[in-house]
Amino acid sequence: MDKPFLLLLFLLLSCSLPISISSYNVPAIFTFGDSIVDAGNNHFNKNCSVQADFPPYGSKFFHHPTGRFTNGRTVADFISQFLGIELQSPYLEARLAVMNGSRRNYPSNGINFASAGSGVLRQTNQDSGVVPIQEQLQKFQALVQKKHIDKNLLDKSLFFFESGSNDIFNYFLPFGTPTLDPDAYVQAMLREVENLMGHIYRLGGRRIAVFSLGPVGCVPARVFVPNAPVEKCFGRMNVMVKKYNEGLESLVKDIPVRYPGAVGVYGAVYDAVQRYRATPARYGFTNVMGACCGDGPLRGLLQCGKEGYKICPNPEMYLFWDYFHPSEHTYKLISKVLWGGKNSTIRPFNLQTLASML
Ligand SMILES: *[C@@H]1O[C@H](CO)[C@@H](O)[C@H](O)[C@H]1NC(C)=O
Ligand SMILES: *[C@@H]1O[C@H](CO)[C@@H](O)[C@H](O)[C@H]1NC(C)=O
Ligand SMILES: *[C@@H]1O[C@H](CO)[C@@H](O)[C@H](O)[C@H]1NC(C)=O
Repeated sequence: MDKPFLLLLFLLLSCSLPISISSYNVPAIFTFGDSIVDAGNNHFNKNCSVQADFPPYGSKFFHHPTGRFTNGRTVADFISQFLGIELQSPYLEARLAVMNGSRRNYPSNGINFASAGSGVLRQTNQDSGVVPIQEQLQKFQALVQKKHIDKNLLDKSLFFFESGSNDIFNYFLPFGTPTLDPDAYVQAMLREVENLMGHIYRLGGRRIAVFSLGPVGCVPARVFVPNAPVEKCFGRMNVMVKKYNEGLESLVKDIPVRYPGAVGVYGAVYDAVQRYRATPARYGFTNVMGACCGDGPLRGLLQCGKEGYKICPNPEMYLFWDYFHPSEHTYKLISKVLWGGKNSTIRPFNLQTLASML
């Protein structure tokens, strides 16, 4: 080897470590959505009956319930770890800590505003006391306006948006029969999303990641829905989900056109989950149909942790942890493809690329 080469090698070796540790210039993640990403807001909301703050939720990673609707970390948690930043606190926890004096400021690594059970339509599960996503944005707006969040942080931060499953699931429940046909209902949902995107931009969000819905018609809780099949996914529900996802993607494509300086990426979670369902063994699953934890058909009739629940010995081999929600293993697989995957799952580029910009 000649000398210039050795010098180059030395430079590469000596530089690569610090660079790889701090190569992402992303200080924070702000997350809006439902139970898929809720880090425990509902637990701190005593008005809310949609809860997962009891065992065995959280048993895998945190070893205690945190209010997350899975046995461990969610996608927002995994991406935080890939970025090398701390997991975000639920907004309501941070607010409590600031109010009772145990924290001086709101956290600088971002905040999780998500509320399980909420949808993109304000009225979805309102009677359960969930925080609609519009109100989640308002809480964020209030923090920005009162300068509790450093404005200079925002254009470098990631904004996560994941919502819509509860609106579509509820469409098929017998109470509150919707007056709109499925297409009009989906269009009404997408109009809300469009407004929410504008709101995020006006408040300073510039790097927006929008995650598609998974195949909601395949959740074990479909056993609640009159006339939904038990042995296969509920097709009519998935048709609505796909329409909504298509609309989401075209809204994301419009982001750089409508909002100068902003970038949007679309995560096709639906397609990722369908791959796991098609070839379970390839991804370490033995069961992609029923829940690990719960009871009744598909263990989809009783919430995990409620009196009489049953639990599988190997949650990491189940696609679903409980009646509605993926296991941590599923979230980990999804997070990895969103972070580093190809444009079949995340486009126009992945989160790692998004995090490396600027
Ligand atoms: C709970 O409900 C009361 C009365 O409707 C309301 O004032 C309060 O803000 C709610 N709390 C939360 C955390 O949403
Ligand atoms: C303040 O609130 C935080 C967040 O809920 C809690 O962990 C802490 O124990 C509280 N401290 C006091 C002094 O009440
Ligand atoms: C995905 O990337 C390939 C090149 O790797 C490109 O040809 C294709 O147009 C991209 N597709 C989308 C939908 O962006």
